[in-house]
Amino acid sequence: MEAINDQINRFSHVSNFFITDVQLEFAEKLLKYSEMSKVFLTNSGTEAVEAALKAVRRIKNLEGEILSFTKSYHGRTYGALSLTDRIEYKKEFEPLLPQISKITFNDEDDLIKKVNDNTAAIFMEFVQGESGINIITDCFVDTITRLKEKYDFAIIADCIQSGIGRTGKPYAFNYFNIKPDIVLVAKSIGGGLPLGAILTRGVYDEAFSYGVHGSTFGGNPVSCTAGIVVLDEVFGKGLVNSVAELGEYFISELRELSNKFPSIINDVRGLGFMIGVETTSDCDEIVNQLRERKVLINCTNQNVIRILPPLIATKNDIDFFLYNFHEVLKSL
Ligand SMILES: Cc1ncc(COP(=O)(O)O)c(C=O)c1O
Repeated sequence: MEAINDQINRFSHVSNFFITDVQLEFAEKLLKYSEMSKVFLTNSGTEAVEAALKAVRRIKNLEGEILSFTKSYHGRTYGALSLTDRIEYKKEFEPLLPQISKITFNDEDDLIKKVNDNTAAIFMEFVQGESGINIITDCFVDTITRLKEKYDFAIIADCIQSGIGRTGKPYAFNYFNIKPDIVLVAKSIGGGLPLGAILTRGVYDEAFSYGVHGSTFGGNPVSCTAGIVVLDEVFGKGLVNSVAELGEYFISELRELSNKFPSIINDVRGLGFMIGVETTSDCDEIVNQLRERKVLINCTNQNVIRILPPLIATKNDIDFFLYNFHEVLKSL
């Protein structure tokens, strides 16, 4: 709040003909912590996805096929929606972009069948958020890496939900043996203000030479100031380590509860503070009861309780959740 207020008193917007000091500081920090080399700042996640689609088309292959996964979510603007696999979000807006297909998530046979010389890019969520916290498997990632060596497509890590420490590592892909060409971030990066980014390396650094892409408010100085504080706290001061530690505690306690209530809980899965509890039937009732108890969660994919605590959550907050969740489970 202090940083934001100070920045509003300095200036809250400058024409995008100019680069501001806070944009530079934020961009340099983003690059340092992601080990990428160039950045374009956006206002949201879906805009970062659109920018990545343009980058692939410009650098890689204008005709090539772009692949994403079944159960994926990449946003609601036209290109991002074309990559997304939720039919209910898409059906009233078709036809969407051509040359986009889906690979069945974690299915190596389908992956090998779909990737070829004509593949321009694969958009990847390493932990799928919207469709119920589905974690990608090591062997699926290894096969993608192997296929990339052969076909040289772009690997785009959509870390809009799973980045900036959410999973207990800087980015969800840090759990795997892979180095994406393009990384997308948004959501928590602005500490609640609208901010996102596309980070590139290698040949993709040339995607947005001056004048090729643009945004009036992308990289707004007030949002960037918040972003600097977020990066300092999460990476500089090590909040990401507390997410890893507390996330492990949280998941193991939830597994205890699942052993106690096997007729209600099917599965507990997650990384850090990105956790899914799969229930044996619709989870709306649990969500509603928890809201009455002042605990906010949501139900994704009908039967997965998605728990995304703020990164600043303490052990006390987690215990508060566990106590209330236990009470709700007992009442069902
Ligand atoms: C993985 C992923 N990609 C993209 C988006 C779209 O981001 P935004 O809502 O900021 O446009 C989201 C939002 O939920 C997301 O979870």
